Amino acid sequence: MAPLNVEDFRILARRRLPRGMFEYVDRGTEDEVGLRSVHSGLEQVKLRPRVLNDVSAPDTSTVVLGDALPMPVIVSPTAVAGLLWHDGEVQLARAARRAGIPFCVATQSMTTMEEIAERAPGANLWFQLYVFEDRKIGWQLLERAKALGIRNLLFTVDTARSPKKEWNTRNGFGIPIQPSLVGAMDLLVHPRWTLSVMARYMLTTGIPVYAHYPPEYLTRMTRASAMPNVKLARKLTWDDVDEVRRRWDGNLVIKGVMDREDAQQAVLRGADGIVVSCHGGRNLDASPPALQVLPGIADAVGHKLTVLADSGIRRGSHIAKFLACGARAVLVGRAPLYGMAASGEQGAHAVLEILREELDHCMAFTGHGSLDTITRDVIAREC
Ligand SMILES: Cc1cc2nc3c(=O)[nH]c(=O)nc-3n(C[C@H](O)[C@H](O)[C@H](O)COP(=O)(O)O)c2cc1C
Repeated sequence: MAPLNVEDFRILARRRLPRGMFEYVDRGTEDEVGLRSVHSGLEQVKLRPRVLNDVSAPDTSTVVLGDALPMPVIVSPTAVAGLLWHDGEVQLARAARRAGIPFCVATQSMTTMEEIAERAPGANLWFQLYVFEDRKIGWQLLERAKALGIRNLLFTVDTARSPKKEWNTRNGFGIPIQPSLVGAMDLLVHPRWTLSVMARYMLTTGIPVYAHYPPEYLTRMTRASAMPNVKLARKLTWDDVDEVRRRWDGNLVIKGVMDREDAQQAVLRGADGIVVSCHGGRNLDASPPALQVLPGIADAVGHKLTVLADSGIRRGSHIAKFLACGARAVLVGRAPLYGMAASGEQGAHAVLEILREELDHCMAFTGHGSLDTITRDVIAREC
């Protein structure tokens, strides 16, 4: 039977991808307490069913940072999406274009932003910046994004260390990819992926690389250790935000803000937006879920900048819950990746369409003809 929901696509992705790669995408960090609470937190929030409103055609459209979007969703930046399907980033950009929503190109993409723009013309591209020990690499990327006409920059600030993903040590998968017996066996038992993705790269462009790294540092994904200069910055401070603000005159959105004081600081530093995100339960295992801290942050700064949020979205009702808690729109990371890993652009687009349709249903059952009325009041309270 054709996949009916995001979980169906997740199961297909699990079958198709080498185990190490699937777990890299799917799992959390350390004991996965953070990841579990992302999902249980979303389940615990209940919405008020309302009846006898005209919900014949709920309008899921919105405006985010000046862009009119048919639904309040942005495809989140995900490193190495290009390993899940041949030319994965191009497929994701095309799927987002079909859905009419933005696709955020990651710094650690396998395909350059220029190539994505060329092969997915008309896609609404955003760019996600990681800052490296060698700052000038990031500043050059900003210039390239500007030259392409990209207006929205997500500056990710929540990854001061590489998180502890113990199963990836055990299953032999890591970035950069290191040859191992477990990894080789994994490829052998997933021939569809090995032939359609890795073998295809090897026969065409060669082993995938982090395409945005400058030629002098271009790091093959299989090299045992990356050069120190292209490691993500361990010392990242508000001075870096100031520097990015000076260099970027488009919209600057700080991604990974989970605290009200940090959100207030983002306002003071001139950010146009923040993404309230616990990185999908992939960084600090002891973190609360983004949904839990969102209302306090939205109350504090929602009138001063655009509040976006992510982590855990697998259903249209999850989008409604994030909006009810104060987000203008949400980002989705794994959901479209599952779709793409299952069947490329078609699968990623099907996931986005499922989310849109489920959001429409959720709006109908809660009595909302437009997103404007989805406020805190939509959340069911104990009587
Ligand atoms: C495989 C994978 C790679 C990711 N890489 C990045 C990245 O390079 N930069 C970034 O800002 N966030 C990255 N993220 C986090 C996502 O942008 C997003 O915040 C998170 O996935 C949202 O949670 P969700 O996957 O439950 O939707 C990554 C997430 C995944 C699953």
